[in-house]
Amino acid sequence: MSDTVDDVDLPYDEDEASQQEKIQALEERLEILEAQNEEMRDKLLDANAENNKYQQKLERLTHENKKLKQSPLFVATVQEVTEEGVIIKQHGNNQEALTEVTDEMCDDLEPDARVAVNNSLSIVKPLSNETDVRARVMEVTESPEVSYEDIGGLEEQMQEVRETVEMPLEKPEMFDDVGIDPPSGVLLYGPPGTGKTMLAKAVANQTDATFIKMAGSELVHKFIGEGAKLVRDLFDVAREHEPAVIFIDEIDAIAAKRTESKTSGDAEVQRTMMQLLSEMDGFEERGEIRIIAATNRFDMLDRAILRPGRFDRLIEVPKPNAEGREIIFEIHTRGMNVADDVEFDELAEEADNASGADIKAVCTEAGMFAIRDDRTEIRMEDFRNAWDKVQAESDETEDVSKTFA
Ligand SMILES: Nc1ncnc2c1ncn2[C@@H]1O[C@H](COP(=O)(O)OP(=O)(O)OP(=O)(O)O)[C@@H](O)[C@H]1O
Ligand SMILES: [Mg+2]
Repeated sequence: MSDTVDDVDLPYDEDEASQQEKIQALEERLEILEAQNEEMRDKLLDANAENNKYQQKLERLTHENKKLKQSPLFVATVQEVTEEGVIIKQHGNNQEALTEVTDEMCDDLEPDARVAVNNSLSIVKPLSNETDVRARVMEVTESPEVSYEDIGGLEEQMQEVRETVEMPLEKPEMFDDVGIDPPSGVLLYGPPGTGKTMLAKAVANQTDATFIKMAGSELVHKFIGEGAKLVRDLFDVAREHEPAVIFIDEIDAIAAKRTESKTSGDAEVQRTMMQLLSEMDGFEERGEIRIIAATNRFDMLDRAILRPGRFDRLIEVPKPNAEGREIIFEIHTRGMNVADDVEFDELAEEADNASGADIKAVCTEAGMFAIRDDRTEIRMEDFRNAWDKVQAESDETEDVSKTFA
C-alpha cells in the first residue's frame, strides 16, 4: 500500500467549502472508509481460513508423499560378485542386473546370498537365510494360552468354530461315517477388537494342535517377491506339525479385491493370493490341518477366496451386546480387587458400543485411576472415568484417521 495521508485527495474544495461542509464531507468519507475497512477485515478472515485449509492439505499430502517414497523392497539373489559390481537376479521376474555396491557391503556378499533391493535395483541390505524369514512371519506355538472361558459373549461363534475346526481334528471318523468332507476353513470377520484372534487361539489351545500364525500384512509388505513362497512354506510347516491350525490374521492384506492399478505391489498380492487359493484347494488330502482366517475388512475381500471349498464357513464376530459386555467385564476383572459398589450390568449398559478390547482397556484404566488415588480397591467411579477416557481416546484416533482418509 503506497497510500499515505498526503496522497489522499480531500473530499471538498479547500478554498470554497465552509468549515461545516468540510466536517460533513470528512465524516461521510470516514464512514465509507470504515465500511471498507470492515469488508477488508472479513476478507482477511476468509483468506486466513482458506490458508489454514490449504496448510492442512499440504501437511496431509506431504505425509502421503513421504509414505509413498518409502518404496517397497524386492528380494533378489546374488549371482556373482565381480570387479564391476554385483550381479543379482530378482525374484518373481527372474531379471538379472548388475548393481554397484559399497566395499563394506561387498565383503558380506557371496553367490546365492539373498538381498533386498529397491526399485532401482540397488542393494539395500543383505537378508539372512530363509528360515529367518519364515520365523519372523510365522509364529509356531504348541498351544497358545487362551481358553474358551476367557472369551465373553460369543457363544454361537464359538460353537461354530469348534464344530468346524475342532471336531474334524478330534473325530475325523465322524465325518467319514457320515460321508461328508469336513469344512476346510473358517473365516472370522467383524470390527476390530471383538475377539477374532482370541477365538482362533482358543481353538488351537483346546485341540492341542500346533498353532501357526501368519499376519497377511507382513507377508506382502515386507519382502516383495516372497509372498507366494511364504504361503507355500506356511503349509509345509503345518504339514510338518500335524495336527495343526493355520491362522491367517488380517487376510484382507493378501486377499483384497483386484484393483484397477497394475503396480508390482498388486501383482505380488495377486501371486500370494493365488498360492493361498491353490493350497486351500488341495486341502482335502492334507488331513489334519485346519485353517482359520480373520479380517476386519470383509468388504475388501476378493470373492474368489469365499468360494465353496475354501472358506466355507463365514462367521461374523460382532461387537458384544449388553449381556456380552457384562460377561467381558467380569472376565477382565477376575483378578482385580473390585469394590462392592461396582455393578457390571450397569457398566455394560453405559459402555454402549464398546468392543471387547475397549472393555479390557476400561478395566486396566480403572485400576490406574484407583492407583492414582492411592487406593487398592477399584470403585464404580473409576470404571466410569475409565470408560470416558477410553471413549475420548477412540474418538481422537477416529478423527485423525478421518483427516488422513
Ligand atoms: N469377546 C471377548 N471377550 C473377552 N475379551 C475380549 C473379547 N474381545 C476382545 N477382547 C479383548 O481384546 C483383546 C483384543 O482382541 P482380539 O485380538 O481377539 O481382537 P480381534 O477381533 O482379533 O481384533 P482385530 O480385528 O483388530 O485383529 C483381547 O486380547 C481381549 O483382551
Ligand atoms: Mg486380530
